[in-house]
Amino acid sequence: MGFPLDVLRTERDLADWRASLPPDILHFVPTMGALHAGHLQLIQRAAADRWWGEPRVLVSVFVNPLQFGVHEDFDRYPRRLEEDASLAAAAGAQALFAPAVSDIYPRGVAGITHVVPPASLQTTLCGLGRPGHFEGVATVVARLLAMARPRRLFLGEKDWQQLVVLRQVVRDLGLPVVIEAMASVRRPDGLALSSRLAYLQPEELRRATALPAALNQAATSARQGLPVEFLLATLRTSLDHHGLLPEYVALVDGHTLQPVERPQGLTLLAAAVHCGSTRLIDHLFLMSRAPIVAIDGPAGAGKSTVTRALARRLNLTYLDTGAMYRALAWWVLRQGVNPEDPTAVEPLLADLALELSQDQEGLLRLRLNGQDISTAIRAPEVTAVVSAVAAHPCVRNTLTAQQRRLGERGGLVAEGRDTGTAVFPDAECKIFLTATVAERARRRALDLRRQGFAVSELAELERQIAERDRRDSTRSVAPLRQAADAVVLVTDGMGIEAVLEALVDAFRARVPEEAWPGLSGAGA
Ligand code: PAF
Repeated sequence: MGFPLDVLRTERDLADWRASLPPDILHFVPTMGALHAGHLQLIQRAAADRWWGEPRVLVSVFVNPLQFGVHEDFDRYPRRLEEDASLAAAAGAQALFAPAVSDIYPRGVAGITHVVPPASLQTTLCGLGRPGHFEGVATVVARLLAMARPRRLFLGEKDWQQLVVLRQVVRDLGLPVVIEAMASVRRPDGLALSSRLAYLQPEELRRATALPAALNQAATSARQGLPVEFLLATLRTSLDHHGLLPEYVALVDGHTLQPVERPQGLTLLAAAVHCGSTRLIDHLFLMSRAPIVAIDGPAGAGKSTVTRALARRLNLTYLDTGAMYRALAWWVLRQGVNPEDPTAVEPLLADLALELSQDQEGLLRLRLNGQDISTAIRAPEVTAVVSAVAAHPCVRNTLTAQQRRLGERGGLVAEGRDTGTAVFPDAECKIFLTATVAERARRRALDLRRQGFAVSELAELERQIAERDRRDSTRSVAPLRQAADAVVLVTDGMGIEAVLEALVDAFRARVPEEAWPGLSGAGA
């Protein structure tokens, strides 16, 4: 019927198409069809994601019976394959997978192995009114992923609970795919786009706009510190008042989806309502401050370069805590004080007026008592003493307190030895960036060679690096430790772009675009 892209009807079609592609370039956007601007933005994002070369984008259109309850809208769910194919192609997709139920469930819906997400995620919010729904979603997505084997899976933040569930499924089953999620797309009147808006009559559409409006109002009350019971009761009343029947209103932790007493960290304010016979959901996020990313890891793992780039990408401020220790070390030398002697160093802390700023390239500028010392702190004589200065507990305490003050309003990517463990234990995203000793020795040799220095044998460099790791992780003050909730990234064999991509993914797994847009977007 003249589709503007490859339409794959069966598992066989998909397998043949998949086999014709180079490995690792497939991006996948699963949908139930009736594509709207929210889906199209996902497809456009997938098509623009070129870090790994020209991608191929596969969109699936499958109204999955397993995720509908008996009295739900499976039969009347909008089905418009031809229109979807044109829209998907125009947005940049190369293929549309539109299988029959018998392709996805060859032994029938009752004969398929189910993927069962944890009860805690299924028995909250939409799970309460839609038992089995998330099991149906997890099962079909696992099945589709196994068939398509994409590199990245694109999902909307609109269905936040679904996203949380699928992230957990991918993590728990070790599925080899990275999830990339995008903010909800809203109409000018505030309504979040959803295929189900197609059910609404014009008058119902008007009424439905009270959902985002009431959520916004409740969020304002939450920010003013009004008690949760009060703001949820007011939210219910307001929805009722506009003829929207609330199924639930809730304030929950953004990741565990469990109720909270007050907004803390990433908090989700969510509601489901019935507008006539149509069920609608919406939510918004509350954050008590801008996000903090803490990047720890051993020396020589390439933290500085990628941390700076990450800060730029996410529109956060780069905080190099090591530079602050260097600034003090420089001051210690300037004052002619013995760097090893804490009693001599301590008095210098009292009037340490350190100012940090960022230049246009995102490079940190440091001023101490009015003087720009950004370059001076990199001198070899500072390098030689900074470890000794930074090991004094009085120094650690003072500078940690200063760093925490800088982080009070958040908005930082902080790099250092103990940022995730001691300085910002409540950072939204913690990364332990490391590389094997052999890899770090190789990089160090390259670096030294580039700077024109004589290079020792690789084995000798490896020995030095291993010894420094041992000292760093066993020292009594601020040892190098990995925070329990850190994402570990071993950068062996990865270029800067690949590391940056992995860092953005780790950040986005903790901080949705809706809560912190940053510069968002692949390659942005
Ligand atoms: O969000 C949807 O459209 C569906 O739940 C999904 C992820 C395509 C699974 O059927």
